[in-house]
Amino acid sequence: MLDWDHNAYYQHLLLRHVPPGCRRVLDVGCGAGGFAVQLAQRCGHVDAVDRSAAMITEARRRTPTNVNCVQADVLTDGLPASDYDAIVSISALHHMPLDTVLAQLAAALRPGGVLAAIALPRTDLRREWPHELAAALAHRALGVRFRAERLLKIGTGFAKTPDHDVMPVVLDPRLTTRQVAAQTAELLPCAQVRRLLFWRYLLVWQKPAA
Ligand SMILES: C[S@@+](CC[C@H](N)C(=O)[O-])C[C@H]1O[C@@H](n2cnc3c(N)ncnc32)[C@H](O)[C@@H]1O
Repeated sequence: MLDWDHNAYYQHLLLRHVPPGCRRVLDVGCGAGGFAVQLAQRCGHVDAVDRSAAMITEARRRTPTNVNCVQADVLTDGLPASDYDAIVSISALHHMPLDTVLAQLAAALRPGGVLAAIALPRTDLRREWPHELAAALAHRALGVRFRAERLLKIGTGFAKTPDHDVMPVVLDPRLTTRQVAAQTAELLPCAQVRRLLFWRYLLVWQKPAA
């Protein structure tokens, strides 16, 4: 009852990294399309890709006409296009080998384009216990607030949608935030990786213009 959707909560943060005037964006592991709906309001065209047939069926039902929902495994089937202005992803990169997917996404960006992704790190209790403690407390405190907002019908209160229970998830990510940062630095110099409070990391990289 006091639970809430961390992926939906972080949509707003990721939207801030989508460049203004974005013409074409790719959403990797789009799930049921909730974020693609937001992207469609800011970008001319959205390619929303997920390998799950059930997720793509739901995404097609929810999204407007400037969203192209594609059922594909990005690792084996390739991407719908290239030269993207932005590539975004929420809670999907940890489903895939990071080096493989980062190389693929970097190649699909236009020069100057932005990659912005949020995904789950492996817990690193020894280094990040203050984060973990703060996250557990803040999760409960915000759970009370969001529950009240739902009761008062002020916004969504980040409620988990019914499709959340059938969404493919990976509960034991392979890499800690530090390991993600190290691997990313090798592939994408100048990329930024930082731990977010609610059991996620944020990775942002702008492809050099030349
Ligand atoms: C935890 S869900 C997140 C969904 C959505 N981004 C959200 O925020 O609600 C991760 C999604 O990534 C998709 N996924 C995982 N590996 C994939 C791959 N190799 N290619 C395409 N989609 C993939 C899964 O099918 C799943 O729907």
